[in-house]
Amino acid sequence: MKFLELNKKRHAVKKFNDKPVDLKDIRTAIEIAQLAPSANNIQPWKFVIVKEKKEQLAQSLPALNKVQVEQAQYVIALFTDTDLVQRARKIARIGSKNLPDDMIAYYMETLPARFASFDDKTKGEYLALNAGLVAMNLVLALTDQGIASNIILGFDKTVANEILDIDERFRPELLITVGYTDEKLEPSYRLPVDEIIEIR
Ligand SMILES: Cc1cc2nc3c(=O)[nH]c(=O)nc-3n(C[C@H](O)[C@H](O)[C@H](O)COP(=O)(O)O)c2cc1C
Repeated sequence: MKFLELNKKRHAVKKFNDKPVDLKDIRTAIEIAQLAPSANNIQPWKFVIVKEKKEQLAQSLPALNKVQVEQAQYVIALFTDTDLVQRARKIARIGSKNLPDDMIAYYMETLPARFASFDDKTKGEYLALNAGLVAMNLVLALTDQGIASNIILGFDKTVANEILDIDERFRPELLITVGYTDEKLEPSYRLPVDEIIEIR
């Protein structure tokens, strides 16, 4: 599918039908989504595919988002890894057969030293930006397979880890609902492009 066509096809879908989604298709979409760029190629994301705990998660949400999560076949909870030092070492460890020696040293030494100097705000922005990029890739990858989705920021981040039994090291960023829809979707409004461009 052409990029423009794909983007025009993607909508925030808030009503889903009962048609099941194949878990394999979600796995494929995540595999494609993780081709997203990330700062230092740190790939700080974790995708938690929620089915059994979906109802419990829904109960913690504000009303409009609750219905979406209840109707969705799956919810993908996107987390980021707040332990960037360990993340860098994990990349070095798992990638050891594929990475040249200088990159291993980069992940084992250079990056951990840099991450150690991050304050909470810097780290929070770093994680959120990378999460946004992979989330966008994910909804486009789902769209490409004819699967509808919505990105949800309106959820209680203080209870998500406990509900989903995810270590506090991982920070909840977004929920992505997944399903099929019978809705006839109209493109939502966008500002004229010249309103958002400045040339210096
Ligand atoms: C970061 C982010 C957070 C969002 N949070 C919510 C949300 O909590 N609930 C919801 O119904 N939609 C949410 N949306 C969907 C937006 O409402 C939707 O993307 C926007 O209206 C544009 O419509 P479109 O995606 O169909 O182009 C969110 C979208 C993004 C990108």
